[in-house]
Amino acid sequence: MTKAIYPGSFDPVTNGHLEIIKRAADMFDKLVVLVSVNPNKTSSFSAEERMNFLRKVCYDIPNVEIDSFDGLIVDYFRKNDCTVIVKGLRAMSDFEYEFQMAHVNKHLCPKAETVFLCADSQSTYLSSSMVKQIAAFGGDISAFVPAAIVDDIFERLDTTKQKG
Ligand code: PNS
Repeated sequence: MTKAIYPGSFDPVTNGHLEIIKRAADMFDKLVVLVSVNPNKTSSFSAEERMNFLRKVCYDIPNVEIDSFDGLIVDYFRKNDCTVIVKGLRAMSDFEYEFQMAHVNKHLCPKAETVFLCADSQSTYLSSSMVKQIAAFGGDISAFVPAAIVDDIFERLDTTKQKG
């Protein structure tokens, strides 16, 4: 059985993430979307909130499981008998960092192969931080995140401005 993990901050999940999730779910028997800690970022949503967003948008993909882990991805990988790490690449600017991380993970755990999926052309400019910035100023985020979580994001960011 192939068991892939797709680790990320998902702060919050965007349409770009969801597109990668759907494609990876088609490629592997099981896909764990893993809410993880990026030490270089401060999260706006708690791990539980981010998992709830993911649960809402992935409820209809039967082989997807949502989990969270506060540690090294390779430790989760080993403990849970995973076979592949999935990452999305939006642009060359993502590549250097992701390439480095894939090599570090493989060094720490030689079985940990990373598979990169190229984001579709509509998601190349999309990021969670951009979504949060638009939402913070009351802009329209409906083209960037799944409809099921638009209101949750506005409520949680406590904006009283229009939802676009
Ligand atoms: O969505 P992001 O913020 O680009 O995801 C980055 C993430 C969370 C996947 C990365 O920071 C990560 O793997 N964090 C866990 C710690 C770890 O295993 N780091 C890799 C070895 S340096």
